[in-house]
Amino acid sequence: MRRVIFNQKGGVGKSSVTVNLAAISAQQGARTLVIDLDPQCNSTHYLLGDDSDLPELDVSNFFESTLSFQLSAPSAVDYCHRTPFEGLDILPSNPDIGDLQSKLESRHKIYKLRDLCEQLDEHYDAIFIDTPPAFNFFSLSALCAADRCLIPFDCDEFARQALYSLVHNLRETQADHNERLILEGIVVNQFQPRASLPAKIIASLEEQELPVLASRIPSSVKMKESHLEAKPLIHLAPKHKLTQAFVELYAELNKAD
Ligand SMILES: Nc1ncnc2c1ncn2[C@@H]1O[C@H](COP(=O)(O)OP(=O)(O)OP(=O)(O)O)[C@@H](O)[C@H]1O
Ligand SMILES: [Mg+2]
Repeated sequence: MRRVIFNQKGGVGKSSVTVNLAAISAQQGARTLVIDLDPQCNSTHYLLGDDSDLPELDVSNFFESTLSFQLSAPSAVDYCHRTPFEGLDILPSNPDIGDLQSKLESRHKIYKLRDLCEQLDEHYDAIFIDTPPAFNFFSLSALCAADRCLIPFDCDEFARQALYSLVHNLRETQADHNERLILEGIVVNQFQPRASLPAKIIASLEEQELPVLASRIPSSVKMKESHLEAKPLIHLAPKHKLTQAFVELYAELNKAD
């Protein structure tokens, strides 16, 4: 199962959702991989800590390898590295991937990530792909490679308006590149249960028949602590309400499988 976590709006929780769902997946026994496609490298740092520990082969080396023929190219698994968390690996990002974008586009490398994932399928039960806050070559590559798309959503009016163009882009990608891609659901993040506006916004999405998931992720400073410690919530604070919301979300996503 390959999931892409995508929203072209910045700061909605893509990296937080990616890493925490992946950590729960690994903790529940699935061989799990996070692929970080964002030059900001937030998922990479969340799982591996600071720069000094970053492995040599990363997503930038992978995309670069698609631009030239190499006799002894690394195999797909060579790009994937262990994290300190059992069963959880990462294909790290690199701040330089942005420099490759126009070359990759002009040379039609949009399906290369999908090909890589196909080779990785025998090694992993679950792949979670974190994307940059833009509809660009890297996020489109991820949408071409994935079976399902999860959209973190931060429940404000601008986010609601942006969601319609996002869903339009998704439908177009489905039609043009990847028929298998399913919009798995919209994850409401930083949900404020006592305020009336978020409930109104969610109701209006539901009226438009958008698949808003029932599990809501609350706002908690535990999230920032988890980033700072480079420890996913399930390892940092397994009983915390924020962690439990992710566990419920994970169960909701997997109940139909
Ligand atoms: N449930 C939450 N509770 C509290 N803070 C949160 C929560 N989710 C995300 N945040 C905070 O919001 C900020 C953005 O989160 P995150 O980096 O996961 O979003 P993103 O969509 O990946 O951002 P970008 O678009 O820049 O990649 C971070 O500072 C994070 O700590
Ligand atoms: Mg991010």
